[in-house]
Amino acid sequence: MKYPKEYLQEIKTRLKISTVVSKTVSLKKRGKEYVGLSPFKTEKTPSFTVNDEKEFYHCFSTAEHGNIFDFVMKTQNLKFGESVKYLSNLAGMRPYTFSKEDKIREEKWNKYKLLYEKYVEFYHKTLFKSSLAKDAKDYLKNRGLTIDEVKKFKIGYVSNDEKFKDEIFKEFTESEIRDTGLFYFDENKKKYVDRFRERVIFPINNISGDPIALGGRILKDNKYLAKYINSPETTFFKKGSNLYNLDIARKLSNNADKIFLVEGYMDVVGLSKNRVDNVVANLGTSLTTRQILILNQFFQHIIVCFDGDESGYKAALRAAENSIIELKPEKEISFLFLPDNHDPDSFVNEKGKDFFEDFSINNSVPIHKFIFNHYSRGIDDKPSSRAVFEKKLRLISSTIKDEFIRKYVLEYFLGKVSELTPNTNFKYKKNYNKPAKSLKSTQNYYNETKSLKAIDIKEFSFLYVLLKKSELIKDNFNLIENVKLFSSENKLLFSEIKNQTNNFENNDIESLKIEQSLIDRVFKYASIKHILVKNLNDDQKILEILSELVRDLKNYELELRITDLESRLSKDLSEATFNELKELKKQQKIN
Ligand code: UTP
Ligand code: MN
Repeated sequence: MKYPKEYLQEIKTRLKISTVVSKTVSLKKRGKEYVGLSPFKTEKTPSFTVNDEKEFYHCFSTAEHGNIFDFVMKTQNLKFGESVKYLSNLAGMRPYTFSKEDKIREEKWNKYKLLYEKYVEFYHKTLFKSSLAKDAKDYLKNRGLTIDEVKKFKIGYVSNDEKFKDEIFKEFTESEIRDTGLFYFDENKKKYVDRFRERVIFPINNISGDPIALGGRILKDNKYLAKYINSPETTFFKKGSNLYNLDIARKLSNNADKIFLVEGYMDVVGLSKNRVDNVVANLGTSLTTRQILILNQFFQHIIVCFDGDESGYKAALRAAENSIIELKPEKEISFLFLPDNHDPDSFVNEKGKDFFEDFSINNSVPIHKFIFNHYSRGIDDKPSSRAVFEKKLRLISSTIKDEFIRKYVLEYFLGKVSELTPNTNFKYKKNYNKPAKSLKSTQNYYNETKSLKAIDIKEFSFLYVLLKKSELIKDNFNLIENVKLFSSENKLLFSEIKNQTNNFENNDIESLKIEQSLIDRVFKYASIKHILVKNLNDDQKILEILSELVRDLKNYELELRITDLESRLSKDLSEATFNELKELKKQQKIN
């Protein structure tokens, strides 16, 4: 049985060989290569080299050499298929099982890819050739884009061209077309409509460079239409796992150790026009830990540079609190704040590349400082205010997965906090939350939960707190009452807990009228238990943790409703729908 070439290639694209090797061999950078002690032989002087550009390793003392698969096979004593499994998992890809489903999926993928390629190509050409694209051309010109950027990003314009649509409908089946999200069925007109019609389109590529989704901008700002729409999530496009321009930016990672992360398509294009190409954008949603992990595969240093307005700041804070969880030794995440309501696009166009780069070097703030600065802003000298502040910082540092980073971030926070209490002989060192879990148990937990979705784990954590602290929940029922869960088993358990609390019944787990296995699952998978174990008697802290969970669950629900509304909006242009969407987006930013 042979793996599809594309599948193996994708593994190589997603994983740098130096990243994989450095899991077992400690490497030092030397010019374009890395060197280290050979894993094939005991030695004192390093003779083992790794080259990311050429995608191979070479050991000068044993003459062993090969690619990423060879390395894993030889050092871990695995067969080829096993090394593929190991590496695809490391790359965050689904396993290839040679099943009928995989075959079907592969066929679907080929159609999907072909359709997107044709679509992008056709409307890219339209922009240059069609008389219907005049306004779009003027628009792009006015925004300062040249042919170079338009070509590089394959920007297009979706005209009202029925001929192309007819062609597509001849060549592909209805379900193949529906799977792409490019067209939707209009119930009133009883026909398929171009979702992106009369929009300038920015193709979103997967990491290998194939277009898998679009972002589309209207030409004239309009009260009733969203400025940008994105393709809906499809089998092959998951927003939280993709980044705009990653396919181009990752190729620069052998020469650049930092990557800019911005909010918008035009920020990427504007920076690229000014010869800053190590830049990606997250796609109009909040930054996911998955995206951080992807960027860390390639780059040492992530610089988050969102718009210099209120909502950009809030998005940055959320991004900081989410991504500090994944911070790893030797990796850095910083935040760059732009002045005067600039966004990266307007800033770099006004000031130029050199100024932008100097500005970013001099003004980016490391993630732990940003978080500290943010929370220290509002505090006064009242004990209650300071206590809340310190607890918040402890809570944030306790979420960090890496135990060394966790330790040093806490050290930094408490060191700064102790400056607030100069009269106390503040032995903050004694107060460390010892790492709640050993590396081994973290690893086990990670393996067990790999197949679960992040939202499932959140739900388990939420239910875990409810089960563990029923008395506290009774007194703070309003906090949890309106939370919505998504998995049907969890819903069941949640409504049973609510019933019990409402009826002032005995609050113990045994008396819940629910299958034990559901409760067992909660206890097994709730990641929060590692954190909670230290604080079971600290009600204030537990309420804080619970509020965070509630916030995350509500945001998830918002996210779903927004995605749903956005896709409805392109069919139904009613003001009510639009206002609802605006309201939801506002709420999302506030949370
Ligand atoms: P911005 O409004 O900052 O976009 O939103 P921009 O790139 O600066 O826009 P223009 O073209 O220069 O005016 C940032 C990103 O948020 C998402 C898009 O991904 C956008 O690039 N967004 C914004 C939406 O998804 N929908 C919207 O209605 C607005
Ligand atoms: Mn912007």
